[in-house]
This record gives sequence, C-alpha cells and structure tokens, in this order.
Amino acid sequence: MKKIAIVYHSGYGHTARQAEAVRAGAADGAADAKLYAADALTDAHWAELAAADAIVFGAPTYMGSVSAPFKAFMDASSKVWFTQGWKNKLAAGFTNSGSQSGDKLNSLVQLAVFAAQQGMLWVSLGIMPGNNSSQGSPDDLNRVGSYLGAMAQSNVDQGADAMRESDLATARELGRRVAAAARAWDSAQLA
Ligand SMILES: Cc1cc2nc3c(=O)[nH]c(=O)nc-3n(C[C@H](O)[C@H](O)[C@H](O)COP(=O)(O)O)c2cc1C
Repeated sequence: MKKIAIVYHSGYGHTARQAEAVRAGAADGAADAKLYAADALTDAHWAELAAADAIVFGAPTYMGSVSAPFKAFMDASSKVWFTQGWKNKLAAGFTNSGSQSGDKLNSLVQLAVFAAQQGMLWVSLGIMPGNNSSQGSPDDLNRVGSYLGAMAQSNVDQGADAMRESDLATARELGRRVAAAARAWDSAQLA
C-alpha cells in the first residue's frame, strides 16, 4: 500500500477540514494516508515523511500567501533539501481562503515551487472547472476553477462546519488522484 502524507496548517479549522477531505479521498484510493500538522512535527514525523511515496501540502492563504506556520515548515525542510531527501516523490497541494480569489493561486504556486525545489513531481487537480457557465453552480466540483491544486473558499464569519460540500468533494478528488498516481508511480525508475 502506498503511503501518502498530508502536511497542513490551519489557524481556525477550515483548512484542517479540507486536509481531512484530502486524506479521506486518498484512503478511498487504497492508500495509507495520514495527516501531519505542519507546526507540530516531531523527529518521528519527519522520518515518516521521508518514507512517504507522496506528500500533499496544504495551507490557508494568509495575506496572499501560505500561512506563516506553514512557511516555517517549508523553511525547516531545507534540511531535507540539502540531501534531496524527497526527490522523485509525488507532491500536490491545496489551499483555502475567505475570498473567492483572495489571491490564493499564489499559495498553490508557492507550494508547487517548493515541491520543485525538493525535486518532487507535482500532481495537478485534474478536474475541469465548474461553476463557470449558465448551467454551472457553486455546488459543482472545482467551483473555484483551479488547475494546480484544490482550492476552497470559506466565509470569514462562519466556522469550518459551514464549508461547502463541493469544496470538500474537490479535496477528496485530489486525494484520490494522488493515490492513483502513487499506485502508478515507481520512483525508482527516475533514480
Ligand atoms: C492573517 C490572515 C490573513 C488572511 N489573508 C487572506 C487573504 O489574503 N485572502 C483571503 O481571501 N483570505 C484571507 N484570510 C482569510 C482566511 O484565508 C480564511 O479565513 C480561511 O478560511 C482560514 O483558514 P483556517 O481556518 O484553516 O486558518 C486571512 C485570514 C487571516 C487570519
């Protein structure tokens, strides 16, 4: 069974719920999927990341970029970068913000560049955009119309329990896709 690690930060619970949806989708795709809080990683957790076949990165968008605790995790991973310890693993990403745009594409770009610096291979969302025609609706999968990763939009005056099911379903699809990619991927072929 392929191991998929989901490393995320969430200040107020919304991105945590999105992360759980990614985990559930990956588990549904027959992967051994586990959540890791980016701001509470122990040495044992870092060892588990080193053993993962894929790592999915997730952060809320704060001030147009990934949240500071997630960036601290990125910086801490420079120790891994020195040895290219995650090279040839699969990577993917997700983010969540208050506004429909909120400049959250920038957060996914940050995550993709981060993965590239680590020598990883990026798995895109792979769902056509929804909610972009007269027949569309906010209940569509990928209602925000992202390609690089999974996006969610959470109203700033509501808790995580009010998140849109379509955003959580989109996150589950990302998890399933990473699980399918991990099943198909033999990183030894690139080594
Ligand atoms: C410090 C801070 C900065 C934020 N910056 C943005 C932003 O740039 N764009 C946006 O759309 N929402 C922004 N938000 C709203 C959050 O992205 C939104 O509330 C999100 O659901 C928080 O996720 P979390 O509960 O996982 O922390 C910001 C929130 C905080 C606390």
